[in-house]
Amino acid sequence: MTGTRLDLDRIRAARHVIDPVFLDSPLFRCDPLGHRLGCAVSIKLETANPVRSFKGRGTELVTSQLRDGAAVCASAGNLGWALGWSGRRRGVDVTVVASRRAPAAKLDRIRALGTTLELVDGDFEAARERAVELARQRGVRLVEDSLDVETCEGAATIGLELVDRVSPGDAVLIALGGGAMATGVGHVLKELAPGVEVICVQPAGAPAMTLSWRERRVVTTDSMATIADGVAGRFPIAAVLDDLLQVADDAVLVEEASIVAGLRLLLEEAGVVAEPSAALGVAAVLEDPGRFAGRHVVTIVCGGNADMDAYRRWAGF
Ligand SMILES: Cc1ncc(COP(=O)(O)O)c(C=O)c1O
Repeated sequence: MTGTRLDLDRIRAARHVIDPVFLDSPLFRCDPLGHRLGCAVSIKLETANPVRSFKGRGTELVTSQLRDGAAVCASAGNLGWALGWSGRRRGVDVTVVASRRAPAAKLDRIRALGTTLELVDGDFEAARERAVELARQRGVRLVEDSLDVETCEGAATIGLELVDRVSPGDAVLIALGGGAMATGVGHVLKELAPGVEVICVQPAGAPAMTLSWRERRVVTTDSMATIADGVAGRFPIAAVLDDLLQVADDAVLVEEASIVAGLRLLLEEAGVVAEPSAALGVAAVLEDPGRFAGRHVVTIVCGGNADMDAYRRWAGF
């Protein structure tokens, strides 16, 4: 594939840098969930690691280049926890900037690592602005999720773990936020398993990247409203969109009620506690069962960090 920032050799090499604790996550057929959804469903479980999300794959790569240095990132929570975790392991001084409205569970985990956390008013985009300013003032590395190719390459290693387990005609459902995971996993699938359909899923309440993919140009939004905080952004990055246009077969939007229903199904039928962003794939099947009927669908359960009070409300207990 040409004209993309992603490269299969670099993604393969990434596996040797990432702590094995993040690699080869469970991938299993979940028949009870499949019965409920009317298709064969496999779950790629990215919550069974020390930071309960796939983001550690990318932060391992980033921090391997920064030994004993410093870094600043903006985060909805999971990147910050992962960067703090990887940074601590390598003596990197990490500062995370997050929205005051981010889930307390994520913010508490970041603090518990001893990572410096600065909170800002406003949404994730406000955190992004502040992180740029801080990194410039301090003269340290700004880690920009999805723009920094290492974050995409780290996520792409998930794709390497899928290719032997999928067949032509299968669909892989990928939560879409900034696009690191969708571009990375999508790249590997298009290179090594081109008959597999790559479908990105975003909440209708935070649709900027999906609208951009559909219009083939960056489309921003003024506001967003979704419980899927991990994928909620308003300003897609042009370079990431270019990569996404090469690998995504479709980008779909799902309603909040479907995300909640997806969370419940994952709990009831798979015994998996997912955060809302990780239920987007199940939500997509719920909204369009005919499209997936009788097929094999892989959904990446990409994070499991939610405030427990909110989770109990969504899960109905
Ligand atoms: C749980 C979860 N799912 C999905 C995403 C979105 O991933 P990306 O920004 O790579 O598109 C994130 C981003 O932090 C996340 O934490």
